[in-house]
Amino acid sequence: MSKTFYIETFGCQMNAHDSEKVVGTLEHEGYVQVEDEADAGLVLYNTCSIRDKAEQKVFHRLNEYKRLQGEGKKFGVLGCVAQQEGERIFEKAPYVSLVAGSASYRNLPEMLRRLEAGETRITGLDDRQTDQAFETEFIARTNPNRGYITIIEGCDKFCAYCVVPYTRGKERSRTSASVMVEARRMADMGYTDIQLLGQNVNSWRDPSGRMSFAELLTAVGSIAGIRRVRFTTSHPRDFTRDIVEAIDATPTLCDHIHLPVQSGSTAVLHAMAREYTREWYLERMSWIHGAKRDISITSDMIVGFPGETDADFEQTITLIDAVKYDAVFAFKFSPRPNTPAVHMADSIPDAVKSERLRILMDRQREIQREHYGRHLGQVVEAMVEGYNEARGQVVGRSTQNKTINFTASGERPPQGSYVDVRITQTLPNSLVGEALMNAVPFVPVRRAADFVVLN
Ligand code: SAH
Ligand code: SF4
Ligand code: F3S
Repeated sequence: MSKTFYIETFGCQMNAHDSEKVVGTLEHEGYVQVEDEADAGLVLYNTCSIRDKAEQKVFHRLNEYKRLQGEGKKFGVLGCVAQQEGERIFEKAPYVSLVAGSASYRNLPEMLRRLEAGETRITGLDDRQTDQAFETEFIARTNPNRGYITIIEGCDKFCAYCVVPYTRGKERSRTSASVMVEARRMADMGYTDIQLLGQNVNSWRDPSGRMSFAELLTAVGSIAGIRRVRFTTSHPRDFTRDIVEAIDATPTLCDHIHLPVQSGSTAVLHAMAREYTREWYLERMSWIHGAKRDISITSDMIVGFPGETDADFEQTITLIDAVKYDAVFAFKFSPRPNTPAVHMADSIPDAVKSERLRILMDRQREIQREHYGRHLGQVVEAMVEGYNEARGQVVGRSTQNKTINFTASGERPPQGSYVDVRITQTLPNSLVGEALMNAVPFVPVRRAADFVVLN
């Protein structure tokens, strides 16, 4: 039992991918992953603290598992709440033995050995000023076809509302050579879809000075076997026109850009310390709208930031009308520890925040209802992700990152294959269609096992 572990992951894609690296590292250290915490010697939570009293939820969760401590289990808290709360976690939950932020995962093997030796207050909290990214060849990717590569960690932008610069530390980029080695290795293992990750992925700067971000996109997209390359999340401040040009020129780069605006009001953007204006953002939108390809655009928004007036909020609504996003993730402002905004009066009553959120989401739903209509009758390529047995449909994803539910006569296309689908119906959040009969031979999915070199 002692060398078994269970891990639960909350938060963004960076956290999901960190967990894949943590699992890979633990397995390399001789641990075996189990699906149920009841069977685990070591229980790990990889936590998120972006909004909504996240730390309280973690403590609540840890409390639920207190009873398991008697069974000799050990507990560890990783990720953003670990970094934010630090040693307070030992005070509130004394049965936790390990608290480590993401900037310290390089030291996990050493921390595990101390845990095995019986130490009960192991921390990895002092590495936020590190220049090193967490690079490991031991990554337990959960999907055999689609995988993440973190190219830049941390954040130096310090938006007034956001915990990330405090929880993930200083911005640090990997070299283009190291990213390319990993991407090529993935292609050799049969991955066809790569997603480059960073809190601000386009703030990536090659430490070796060889490539720009747009050149890196093109280089990854040119690797034999790679059919789709995505990148997320982009920051407007570092969004350059050559990114759009790279997408236009490289068919494997997906027709999708996630470029969070947060607010349509320049005054609110200023208060948020986003360091761009509504006009600056809209200029970037015009580049994307002017592209040769139909690039889908998605965004994050915050409503009810301190001081946001009705007129400011109206500016957000006129912005979503102008941009015509393909999806919007909107949140009520939530005051977070350590951030400048926690000291601003949280002046907007919760009822007003909720009302603004509702208005925004209703309007966006209408926009999507109309805007998704452009796909009706088109033939769209879907990467097969799964099956909806109840409805007898195949579930896939388009290069624009839209869900496509479709029927396929004959042999069921395997997961990870690419199928051309004629769109017969559009909904506000998904597309419905029929696979084109025999139009594309199903691409057999290569597995790592096919590439084992003997000798
Ligand atoms: N680096 C990305 C965002 C990462 S956090 C960027 O700058 O765009 C993901 C999203 O969570 C943010 O885009 C923001 O919309 C939301 N968010 C972050 N902190 C928040 C807070 N304190 N309250 C509400 N939403 C928040
Ligand atoms: Fe947070 Fe701003 Fe950094 Fe995004 S850019 S992670 S919102 S501080
Ligand atoms: Fe959450 Fe940390 Fe990601 S706060 S959103 S897990 S960077």
